Amino acid sequence: MKNQNYKPCDLVIYGALGDLSKRKLLISLYRLEKSQLLEADTRIIGVDRLDETSAGFVEIAHNSLIAHLNTPIDEEIWGRLSNRLSYLRIDLTQPEQYLQLNAVVDSEKRVMVNYFAVAPFLFKSICQGLQSCGVLTAESRMVMEKPIGHDLKSSKEINDVVEEVFQEDQVYRIDHYLGKETVLNLLALRFANSIFTTNWNHNTIDHIQITVGEDIGIEGRWEYFDKTGQLRDMLQNHLLQILTFVAMEPPADLEAESIHMEKIKVLKALRPITVRNVEEKTVRGQYTAGFIKGTAVPGYLEEDGANKESTTESFVAIRVDIDNWRWAGVPFYMRTGKRMPNKRTEIVVNFKQLPHNIFKDSFRDLPANKLVIHLQPNEGVDVVMLNKVPGIDGNIKLQQTKLDLSFSETFKKNSIFGGYEKLILEALRGNTTLFLSREEIEQAWAWVDSIQDAWAQNHSAPKSYPAGSWGPIASVALLARDGRAWEE
Ligand code: BG6
Repeated sequence: MKNQNYKPCDLVIYGALGDLSKRKLLISLYRLEKSQLLEADTRIIGVDRLDETSAGFVEIAHNSLIAHLNTPIDEEIWGRLSNRLSYLRIDLTQPEQYLQLNAVVDSEKRVMVNYFAVAPFLFKSICQGLQSCGVLTAESRMVMEKPIGHDLKSSKEINDVVEEVFQEDQVYRIDHYLGKETVLNLLALRFANSIFTTNWNHNTIDHIQITVGEDIGIEGRWEYFDKTGQLRDMLQNHLLQILTFVAMEPPADLEAESIHMEKIKVLKALRPITVRNVEEKTVRGQYTAGFIKGTAVPGYLEEDGANKESTTESFVAIRVDIDNWRWAGVPFYMRTGKRMPNKRTEIVVNFKQLPHNIFKDSFRDLPANKLVIHLQPNEGVDVVMLNKVPGIDGNIKLQQTKLDLSFSETFKKNSIFGGYEKLILEALRGNTTLFLSREEIEQAWAWVDSIQDAWAQNHSAPKSYPAGSWGPIASVALLARDGRAWEE
């Protein structure tokens, strides 16, 4: 066993037969097992309301792996994982049924980690059930993930319910982007490399772009998505999290508290977008029918179960200003959308142009350097710079070239873990650094609520864009007004 340095856990998954558990959690647990990162005595207890046995749960887990793993199942690894699995049938709304947990959970020997893989309306019942059956200890933890509310008010309600039973340091709020290798690499890139630490501010950086594009559409989630929209589904969490990692001050160390503190400072410094400036700073879009990689796909309003009148956005682009010393005058442009030409998550740091150009023969305007951080796919980092084209005749000729650090090439690793493996492991280890604090989530909601309210007051309808494009023309205009363009 590689990892003996944390206490074994009883990982209890509420909603074990649901989508999140089957698509993500069980797959991630298999991968952790494969990497020998699960402590030998750790057990996984599936809880759901369906009448199922432990053997039945094992079979369901096996089928989930077949459906979602993308690689053949290694029987030896599966054997080890399946030995950890058991199942309890609990109607989560019935407090007395939680007593069953007392017979299974072993709080002396293991830490109880409660993974709430259910809709938030059940959180209160689970918290109360757990409290009344007396199975929790000061060591117990709870893990939850978005949607943690759909605005500041509802997010506070959820956090209040949880807080009645769990202390803040027992709560692990997941944003799966924080488990992604390349998001974590931002810490290394920024704080372990002096060429970046000394150049990461308004003196040298012109602007920063963050793009999170997906080629998928709504994927049968119309009910959820239409009430939510891209601003709340993606920008409030994943994009703002990326932004805080790019923009924060150096933390004192890698402890959870130090990192949370710096991220909160960034969120507090976001200049509010209100009804006065929302039209100039934001673009809402909704896709119409189009083509993704040559295949015809329907528009948002033609998806299964669609309300033809919906004005929910499937795309959003925003100019964000951060009102602090480091970023004065450096806009951050963020865009995210469904049915973009391909899946692409990337940060582009555009450095300032040089004040004078002595290479006019090659470039009338010397292009500025760029640092392109590919978060997914093709994880890696490029530095776009100018070099002299080799040759002895005539004047010096320059060409734009890339210093290309692809993770798969450099580290010879074919598979980069998705976010869940890392985050489940950290929750089992009891390290909250990569999880969100209550204050962070609430600060992010306060900023996003102001945008959502401004849109509502303006009755602004989304602008259409064909599926397979990078959003409405207005998104291009958002940057063009500032004399800039999106990285294509
Ligand atoms: C989820 C959103 O949080 O993130 C989905 O609810 C989105 O709408 C998904 O598709 C994207 O995650 P990833 O890891 O595939 O980029």
